[in-house]
Amino acid sequence: MAQIVFDKVGKSFGSTKVIENLDLTIEDGKFTVLVGSSGCGKTTLLRMIAGIGPATSGHIYMDGKDITHQPPEKRDIAMVFQNYAIYPTMSVRENIEFGLKNKKVPKEERERRIREYAEIVGMTPYLDRKPSDLSGGQRQRIALARAMVKKPSVFLMDEPLSNLDAKLRAAMRVELIELQRRLGTTFVYVTHDQIEAMSMADTIVLMEKGEIQQIGTPGEIYHEPANVFAAQFIGTPPMNILELGDPQSHKYGVRPESVILNSERLPDMAFYRRGRIITREMLGAETQFKVRLSDGVTIMVKNDREDLMENQDVWVMAEPRRVHFFGSDGKHIGHGKPSELMDKLGGTSE
Ligand SMILES: Nc1ncnc2c1ncn2[C@@H]1O[C@H](COP(=O)(O)OP(=O)(O)O)[C@@H](O)[C@H]1O
Ligand SMILES: [Mg+2]
Repeated sequence: MAQIVFDKVGKSFGSTKVIENLDLTIEDGKFTVLVGSSGCGKTTLLRMIAGIGPATSGHIYMDGKDITHQPPEKRDIAMVFQNYAIYPTMSVRENIEFGLKNKKVPKEERERRIREYAEIVGMTPYLDRKPSDLSGGQRQRIALARAMVKKPSVFLMDEPLSNLDAKLRAAMRVELIELQRRLGTTFVYVTHDQIEAMSMADTIVLMEKGEIQQIGTPGEIYHEPANVFAAQFIGTPPMNILELGDPQSHKYGVRPESVILNSERLPDMAFYRRGRIITREMLGAETQFKVRLSDGVTIMVKNDREDLMENQDVWVMAEPRRVHFFGSDGKHIGHGKPSELMDKLGGTSE
């Protein structure tokens, strides 16, 4: 197990600064997910932890020890990539064993660990098979076992599920959560997929353009987004952001799942608008609507109201505590009832 600390870390490729002055503490024994859109610097960050693309300024500490310039093989770290390399000519057993032979682990201990980790990833029945006889998910599990068998203090994963189909990805998410709980190892997991981040993380580190936008639990980032970027990155469809229309250019936001549509007005809502349903998508458990408000602005709404139809005129409302306010700089100001901004919104008594 290990804690990792970034202290004013920077990374440049030639004259291009990708990361500048980054401070971050990755907690010991936790599942930390670095999430952000493609090109924001996630892989760069992970490679700095692994030591395969060292920081160009600042320091990285592992359990208090400065590892900024330590070679990768001296770090007690294992890494699994998107394009996991397993050896097609070796059996599952040999693939898992491979990492241990490098580490000069004695034969008996190797056998014991192969059995242990094959069991953990559910590959015990397949130990003598070749990867070509296995599914994509099973191959990915071999890659995981091969990394884990070294018993690293830190386990780094860079989009390890992105080559799998949606169903398998969902199943592997659950397996990885279980695995992390069982091993108690520090996991640092990189993804561009907010659903993976939300479902697996103890702590989410949300990045954009080399900068950390917010650090928090999935619940904190969902309920208390630090800014418009965080508010819109998490959640599908993203939070509706509208102009309050005041001199300070405040914005307000309501998540699609927090917007209430009804043919009648309901009491004690934060705002009351008239709207017309433009499209309706029935997705099974939920229905998604595009609604045009009376001033022409459109918003997305998600609920379980299968009875509402296209072209229907509705009241558009939200509970006060579901309305978020943002400054003109995009920073979250707060949500809920007490602010004078809520009054500008039309209030609860209109
Ligand atoms: N070896 C490199 N040389 C030059 N630029 C690079 C190199 N590696 C990454 N970059 C740039 O750094 C930025 C971050 O890349 P990366 O960390 O791979 O992003 P992510 O993993 O979030 O998609 C991108 O703009 C990318 O083009
Ligand atoms: Mg990447």
